[in-house]
Amino acid sequence: MDLVAALSFLFFGFTILFSLFSFLIYVLRLKPWCNCDVCKTYLSSSWTKDFANLCDWYTHLLRKSKTGTIHVHVLGNIITANPENVEHMLKTKFENYPKGKPFSALLGDLLGRGIFNVDGNHWKFQRKMASLELGSVSIRMHAFDLIMSEIRSRLLPLLSSVADEQRVLDLQDVFRRFSFDNICKFSFGLDPGCLELSLPACKFAAAFDTASKLSAERALAPSPIVWKIKRLLSIGSEKELKEAIKKVNELAEGVINERRKAGFSKNNDLLSRFMTSITDEKYLRDIVVSFLLAGRDTVASGLTSFFWLLSQRPEVESAIRAETEKVMGLNQDLPSFQEMREMHCLNAAVHESLRLYPPVQFDSKFSQEDDILPDGTFVPKGTRVTYHQYAMGRMEQIWGPDCLEFKPERWLKNAVFVPANPFKYTVFHAGVRICLGKEMALVEMKAVALAIIRGFNTRVVDPNQVPRFSPGLTATVRGGLPVVIQEREA
Ligand code: HEM
Repeated sequence: MDLVAALSFLFFGFTILFSLFSFLIYVLRLKPWCNCDVCKTYLSSSWTKDFANLCDWYTHLLRKSKTGTIHVHVLGNIITANPENVEHMLKTKFENYPKGKPFSALLGDLLGRGIFNVDGNHWKFQRKMASLELGSVSIRMHAFDLIMSEIRSRLLPLLSSVADEQRVLDLQDVFRRFSFDNICKFSFGLDPGCLELSLPACKFAAAFDTASKLSAERALAPSPIVWKIKRLLSIGSEKELKEAIKKVNELAEGVINERRKAGFSKNNDLLSRFMTSITDEKYLRDIVVSFLLAGRDTVASGLTSFFWLLSQRPEVESAIRAETEKVMGLNQDLPSFQEMREMHCLNAAVHESLRLYPPVQFDSKFSQEDDILPDGTFVPKGTRVTYHQYAMGRMEQIWGPDCLEFKPERWLKNAVFVPANPFKYTVFHAGVRICLGKEMALVEMKAVALAIIRGFNTRVVDPNQVPRFSPGLTATVRGGLPVVIQEREA
């Protein structure tokens, strides 16, 4: 017994000493004594006096910076909104800017070896497989059918019933439920039914929410050592995270087993397609969980800000209605894939709202070797370099003096939509790891937006509400988007 006690004492003593030592090294690298204005403002949180969100303060700093790049020394973080730097990181010197170990560690328990969380060979393999799948015409049509069926059988009946009862509805919650149903059907061939008329509590969605929120919050700890110790001791938020991940795993494993029993070769969902070449259950689980994360909150976030911006400029909504009538005539049904492709004004409005409110607000990489960015910034090996999508949508150098205005017309030339350079418009990332679900996401957003705009008048309860975001992997508005809706006359 004594020996066991002595060994335990030695083990914990060593763990604590090692943790303290690592913490000291970490603190020394971060320069906590830095006295520059940016670091002082960051440390004292005094930016909160003037800005609703941290991303708004960073935007302010980046707009003022001559190079479009700033340093937050106490975080060891270089942040840029300069398109040349972005192209350098994401394309020209792609190999020097992997996601890196600090990022993989934060999300590792939830995402494992899924595409979002890996570099190198694991990433190459999944990227190749997933681009073959997502690029194929048959899977795109399958995705379109799933979206339309969710709109027809769930979204429209729900909105009609809420309009009849004249009650307040949180559109953000509706969009989160919609996109969760949709991405589960697409990834697993499983229907969680979160958007049923009764708006049921969804166990899987809730466990997934908790797991991604708590994983993202690890980044807020003063040092990674803090959450790692909490994880070792299984206490506080780490205990909660462990339980949520356990639930996600059980559900994902259940689905994989069912698919295997029922046979998967004829199914169209992503899991079945991956199952034809992978037998490792854990790897399959990691792959599909990454897709859930990729396709759920991003689309819901994009739709929420779209409707908030539309409430600020009702003439854009009228223009979209006029365009739909022109393309679809008096046809009351949902649009076809081809009809949606002809709606340039709708496409422009969706791109414009994503410019101002990108669902992923910033993205970080870790430099492998010393480097110099095109604007002359020196990047020491191991530095975290972030490009800031939210700020990039608000830079005068990129979008002109009216960059803060919601103006879909900026995307149209002779009434035809013209796409932007992806290193300037970084909403879907850019370069070698550009988002694989971009087309699907845009189709989903446009189809949902159109169904609501054509069928209903939507009034935001508080049009003066300035969006405040909760910390997380994707932009989520605190308090949601409460609206009142009314059915339009046929
Ligand atoms: C408006 C909706 C969406 C936005 C704004 C968006 C944005 C992004 C961004 C910024 C990244 C880069 C993330 C990083 O490397 O850290 C990314 C990657 C990715 N996205 Fe999307 N996404 C959206 C929807 C979707 C959907 C619906 C899917 C799948 C069905 C999807 C699949 C992926 C995948 C697989 C990657 C990883 C690519 C790689 O690492 O090679 N995305 N997306």
